[in-house]
Order: sequence, then C-alpha cells, then structure tokens
Amino acid sequence: MTSGSAFAAAVTAPAQSSRLSVMNFLNEAANDYPKAISFASGRPAEAFFSIERWLEAIPLFQAHAAQSAGQSVLVAGRRIAQYGRTNGCVNELVAQQLRIDERIDCTADQVIITAGCQEALALIVPALCREPGDVMLARTPTYIGITGVADFAGIEIVPIEPRAGESWHRALHRTTQALRREGKTPRGFYLTPEFDNPTGTVLSEAERRSIIAGCVEHRIVVLEDNPYGMFRFEGEPTASMISLDSEGCVVYLATYSKSLCPALRVGAAVMPRRLFGSEGEARRLAGELSERKSFVTVNTSQVTQALVGGVLLAENGSLARLVDAPRKHYARNRDAMVGFLAHEFRDNSDVVTWNRPEGGFFLGVNLPFEFGQSEAVECARAYGVIVMPMTFFSLDGSRENEVRLAFSNLVPDEIESGVSRFARYVKGRLRSVS
Ligand SMILES: Cc1ncc(COP(=O)(O)O)c(C=O)c1O
Repeated sequence: MTSGSAFAAAVTAPAQSSRLSVMNFLNEAANDYPKAISFASGRPAEAFFSIERWLEAIPLFQAHAAQSAGQSVLVAGRRIAQYGRTNGCVNELVAQQLRIDERIDCTADQVIITAGCQEALALIVPALCREPGDVMLARTPTYIGITGVADFAGIEIVPIEPRAGESWHRALHRTTQALRREGKTPRGFYLTPEFDNPTGTVLSEAERRSIIAGCVEHRIVVLEDNPYGMFRFEGEPTASMISLDSEGCVVYLATYSKSLCPALRVGAAVMPRRLFGSEGEARRLAGELSERKSFVTVNTSQVTQALVGGVLLAENGSLARLVDAPRKHYARNRDAMVGFLAHEFRDNSDVVTWNRPEGGFFLGVNLPFEFGQSEAVECARAYGVIVMPMTFFSLDGSRENEVRLAFSNLVPDEIESGVSRFARYVKGRLRSVS
C-alpha cells in the first residue's frame, strides 16, 4: 500500500474490509500526514524504551537457565538460540510477575508464551469457534485486534452490551437465547475490563462477577485482555476477572508490549486450571492452543523471551519499578489532555464531553455531530490532527458521534497543539450548524 492510501482505504471501504484496514491506518496515518499531530495510535511512549540496557539482561537469563538445567552458560546460550519449547521458556518468571504485579494466582504450567497478545487471540478464537454457527461476543466498540482475527477466520463477532438497568448476566442470557434462535452459539467473550481500548473505561467488580456468572451458565469462555492494567494513575485496582473466577471460564491475556516494548512480541495466555469445572476440558483447550501455535510461530522467539526473562530477574520478578516513570508520563498526558479539552471547549461543555480515564492510553470525546470517515480525513488534511472515529472500532456502526484520542506517545506541548487544532475543527462545525 502506498503512502496515503491506507487512510483512504480505511475510510472508504465497506464495513468488514474497512475494519481490517484500520490496523494499517493506525500504523500508517503518521506517514500519510507527517506534519499532523496524531492522537490515532496507542503506541507506548518511546522515551522509555531502553533497548541497550534490556539487551544486557539476556546473559542474566542465560546464566539462570544454565543454573536451572545444570548446564554450562555456553550450552544454555546455544539452547536459547535453538528452536524451543512451544509453550515458552520464561513461564516461571512470567507467572511470578503476574502473581506479584497483577495479583493473579497462577503457576508456570498454566502459561503459554505467545508472540504478543495478538497471537494468543489468533490462536484462541478459532480454537473456541470450531463449528459452523459458533460466534464470538465482544463489547462495542472494541479492540480492532479481536475484530480482525474473527474477520480473517470467518467467525462472526456479535456485539453485546446490557440495556439500561440490565445486568451483564441478564444481557448474556438474552443474547445467547437470541443467537440460539438463529442457530448460533456464543463460544467466547472478548473484553478489556481495565482501561478499555478504545474507550478508556473500567468494569466494576460487580460487572465482572455478573459477566463470569453469565459466561459460566452459558459455557462461554471469557478472554480477559489486560495490556493497560499496570498503568493506573489513581484509585484502587479492581480484581482481575481470572482471580474472581472459581468455575474456570477465564483465559487471561498478558503482554509485554506496553510495559517493556512492542518489538519484543512477547505476551502470554494464562489458561484456567479447570474449564467449566473440568480439568480435562482445560487441558484439551490448552493442548489445542499449543498444537496450533506449533504450526504458526513454532515458538515465541527465545531471544526476546530471554530478554523479558533477564529483565524480570534483574527487577526481582516485578515490572512495577520499570513502569513507574512511563505511568507518570501517561498520567501527566491524561491530565494535559483533559485540561486542554476543558480549556478549548469551556464555552461548549454542554455539547462536547469526554471521560477522564483513571489509567491507560485512551479517552473518548462525545460530539454533537457525526464524526466518521470524511471528518477524519478533513481533520488530518486541513487541521493537522489525526483522531480516530469511534465507529472504526464499532461492531454495529454505533457511536457515530464519538472519537478516540490516544495520549500515550506524545508530550504535553503536542497535546496542547493537537487539542487546539481539533477544537478549531469542532468549533467551526458547531458554528456552521448554529
Ligand atoms: C486491547 C489491546 N490488546 C492487546 C494489545 C497488544 O497486543 P500485542 O501484545 O500483540 O502487542 C493492544 C495494543 O494496542 C491492545 O490495545
């Protein structure tokens, strides 16, 4: 795709292929409009990547592996460079980090190391939806990574959201019954309960429990994606869904893309010990993922696993110290963004509103007019700011009046200019209708 075409494809193609183009758009928008300030992509802040220092951690893991296996450091190094175990070589350290940092009670044998969270999604969705009529559930709007996986696998992804006053348990019952009448069966429910991408919102513990109850009742596997949980700016963390799950319906997805860097392509799926009460079912699903993985990436790069392992060893098992500075940076950017939005829209606060996320990389802005394809192009081309229409993440075309703003990989000066450019566009539109 030539420069400039990704944006055009994303904003002109029909729904499904448009969804698939969004990933390209996210990656290429900055190239298409090099002078524009981009609130489009939720990339981690590059200022905190210390690749030279992290590379120095590889020998630490090598020495650790040598000691664990009773081998020489030389042999352990050769083993790292060789094809490796499909499920990974840093599972103990990853399980330990999840226990310490995320309070997840898991052991190494529950962990499958994947090439980022994306590979875990690509393995799990078709493993869950094997029969014609098997569908995935997701909230709408949702992370484009799950939509793309389902679309490419030819698996329908059905939006689910409780109606006003309805519990998640009830919504799952209603949706499941409606799907059954159409000959369809929901097999999985993907969600990001902590600082959702794209909305920045958090599900309360009561909502999480209600989802688990509904999913257990209807034998739906929850895919709990948590790339942003370590980036909480204030308030108390909510218990993860996997830790609230006593029956065994939650697969937890972790990634080092945000806490370290995306180039590693190291993530993990934590499998439940029992799936809907059955150890055999849990083993079958884990075995199937592993088998699929062995024919997709064979194993996750042991070089980057060794880097993650080495960093974890150097940090005594926790990433809390390393994410402290980036977390403060994201918090400062969130403050800058909501501050500049409040300033720019001080005379329009009745019609332009936004949320103030307690963590993560994103917030959503509500506008009093539809903001979609052509509006995004106009903003980028004529106003020099790139924002994402929320409809790009929508499964049913809803949220036409919203945009997603990412504040992660910017500095407050850029946020100030970008918000001011966006406000100029919005206020121009408001004037033209009044
Ligand atoms: C919701 C969500 N899941 C997962 C990821 C990270 O995926 P990966 O681990 O493949 O880099 C992202 C990154 O943008 C995300 O927003």
